[in-house]
Amino acid sequence: MSDKKKTPGQKAPGKNKPAGAAKATSGRGQRDLTIKVKTARGRKLSSTLWLQRQLNDPYVKRAKADGFRGRAAYKILELDDKFRFLVPGARVVDLGCAPGGWCQVAVTRVNALGEKQGKRVGTILGVDLQEVEPIAGCEIHQLDFLEDDADEKVKTWLGGRADVVMSDMAASASGHKQTDHLRIIALCEAAAYFAFDVLEEGGTFVAKVLAGGAEGELQKLLKLRFKKVVNVKPAASRADSSEKFVVATGFKREQDDDQDSDGLRMSSEAG
Ligand SMILES: C[S@@+](CC[C@H](N)C(=O)[O-])C[C@H]1O[C@@H](n2cnc3c(N)ncnc32)[C@H](O)[C@@H]1O
Repeated sequence: MSDKKKTPGQKAPGKNKPAGAAKATSGRGQRDLTIKVKTARGRKLSSTLWLQRQLNDPYVKRAKADGFRGRAAYKILELDDKFRFLVPGARVVDLGCAPGGWCQVAVTRVNALGEKQGKRVGTILGVDLQEVEPIAGCEIHQLDFLEDDADEKVKTWLGGRADVVMSDMAASASGHKQTDHLRIIALCEAAAYFAFDVLEEGGTFVAKVLAGGAEGELQKLLKLRFKKVVNVKPAASRADSSEKFVVATGFKREQDDDQDSDGLRMSSEAG
């Protein structure tokens, strides 16, 4: 099922580095910011610094040039270049998909539009708290994944199993590191239990976590159900952020998994 991967507009297929920025792809170690943003009345210092960082971020510029909705696209490109889970024909669930960068990457790689002739055609189901502008090849729903029965809703939309469950969900920053960390772990755990329910044998789970302690428990949980669990910090992930991604491959289904909570057998043919 593997295929030469190329995203439209990607200048360095498989490398995913901003053109002409071989040494500074992630912006790590960059000391001199070329654009300085002046403080303005009514604008907080944190907002000024954010704006300045955005304007000087090579991935932000690259995303604009490549037609991606956000710099996050390069994180999933990099993770997929390494682990090869977005293959033609894959059924993908993208949790926390707004504004849609990961979905855009997945559309091309799983051949959701059937553009790669002779290759299997994949599907992408995205959900987010926020409304998302439609993306050709994706089914997108607005949903709080932490609300009661959210997982049942997503399972209904999915209509069967998935090969990949990926979550970039992140709650708005509270400013309190530990609170933010625990929130993201809660989102991650919800995504993991959902993945246990829907993943196909051999499937892949990818989720964003923040380093801070509780991610060890999540790793333990994942190690029970996947052959391999690793933490990765993609170059596109900002060096000053504690964000990293857990990538769990080789899902091991258990007999009980073949019955969903209503006692119905899930179809492995769906998708
Ligand atoms: C970093 S962004 C995702 C970026 C996305 N991967 C992309 O490439 O465009 C995190 C997203 O998680 C979503 N999110 C946070 N909590 C959520 C929840 N409880 N349910 C659904 N989405 C959630 C946010 O609305 C936000 O859009």
